Amino acid sequence: QVKYRPFPTIDIPDRTWPNATITKPPRWLSTDMRDGNQSLIDPMDSVKKNRFFDLLVKVGLKEIEVGFPAAGATEFDFIQNLVRSGRIPDDVIVQVLTQSREDLIKRSFESLQGAKQAIVHVYNAVSPAWRDIVFKMSKDEVRGIAEAGAKVIRDEAAKYPDTDWHFEYSPETFSTAELDFSIECCEAVMQILQPTPERPIILNLPATVECATPNVYADQIEYFCRNLPNRDSAVISLHTHNDRGTGVAAAELGVMAGADRVEGCLFGNGERTGNCCLVTVALNMYTQGVDPGLDFSNIDEVIETVEYCNQIPVHQRHPYGGELVFTAFSGSHQDAIKKGFEANEQQNDQYWRVPYLPIDPADLGRNYEAVIRVNSQSGKGGFAWVLEQDRGLKLPKRMQAHFSKAVQRMADETGRELNAADIWDAFQHEYHLS
Ligand code: KIV
Ligand code: ZN
Repeated sequence: QVKYRPFPTIDIPDRTWPNATITKPPRWLSTDMRDGNQSLIDPMDSVKKNRFFDLLVKVGLKEIEVGFPAAGATEFDFIQNLVRSGRIPDDVIVQVLTQSREDLIKRSFESLQGAKQAIVHVYNAVSPAWRDIVFKMSKDEVRGIAEAGAKVIRDEAAKYPDTDWHFEYSPETFSTAELDFSIECCEAVMQILQPTPERPIILNLPATVECATPNVYADQIEYFCRNLPNRDSAVISLHTHNDRGTGVAAAELGVMAGADRVEGCLFGNGERTGNCCLVTVALNMYTQGVDPGLDFSNIDEVIETVEYCNQIPVHQRHPYGGELVFTAFSGSHQDAIKKGFEANEQQNDQYWRVPYLPIDPADLGRNYEAVIRVNSQSGKGGFAWVLEQDRGLKLPKRMQAHFSKAVQRMADETGRELNAADIWDAFQHEYHLS
């Protein structure tokens, strides 16, 4: 049962933007160990990578990009050891990335020797800036890079028949390229790899650098889905970055526009401003009445591992995970939250309904005690709640009004947050109990 009431949609006549919602979860691909890892000041060593991999499996990721094996010995050895370690569950498929170059593709296949199943992800940039400035190549030549790579993939796969191979192709810089040219490159790759609806190819459409509002990306996805020949032989994947701060929004709108799969990183790690945050996209699904199929019920454990592996702290206000997101400092918020908890308990509502708390902290393994804090900004609701939780003391209304002055004085004098022990000290002092 989905505990959060799906948001009603509003029918606005003649609207320019269609009334879309997300109706089912996409497939998820974590690229923490590849896009995330390549953006770290100190890339993960094998201990950290193994720990990250185990976390992703625990969270429920079924597709995990584990690295770029042709980048060097560290990556290659890690992937070979992972494949041989037996720690890849049967229902999890690992993915590796390679540029569309013969030697690199061959090395990538070698790294996966012994895997039961794997996705080989090949890419080449297709947009005008890259064609003109980076490669100095014509469109035909750039499409030729994709075709040549696809042929090597096809031939290498045949050399390792014990592995169940799947393929992903990314026209890198998709969102800044001519749409018809991206389709042309994907079609050329499909011609060679001959996907079918039963064994589709993954076509990943990156906003390598986010350059437009998220609705523009969604339009590009919709156009691509409508105009790709043999659309049913392809899984359309999104890969958004966050340069304009709208990586999550772009992924959400892209799913509404018809995509099947979302690539990203936990808490939005990744090149520059990061990839879209998989935690946010996944947990946002609940507001559409959709269970994302990923388990963040112990979010503190997830954060601890991600912070350790990335050596980057999760921001205190990061959606869902941040330390402060279930904390109210202001008196009126505290009061409303307190009433919300009480009403929720009494009415046993089908849906979660607590003012200022869009999600029940308990669903992420956080507890209610941490919700209300008392400082110079808070009113009497806050300390009354803390005393009740900490000491089982239910203060009558008039006593609350009286004691609030003492609490306010202490908060003003100390200039810091008051914890349960401070409030109890003040209480004992005020009423001569000690
Ligand atoms: O951002 C990007 O375009 C990428 C590709 C290699 C998929 O990371
Ligand atoms: Zn990327």
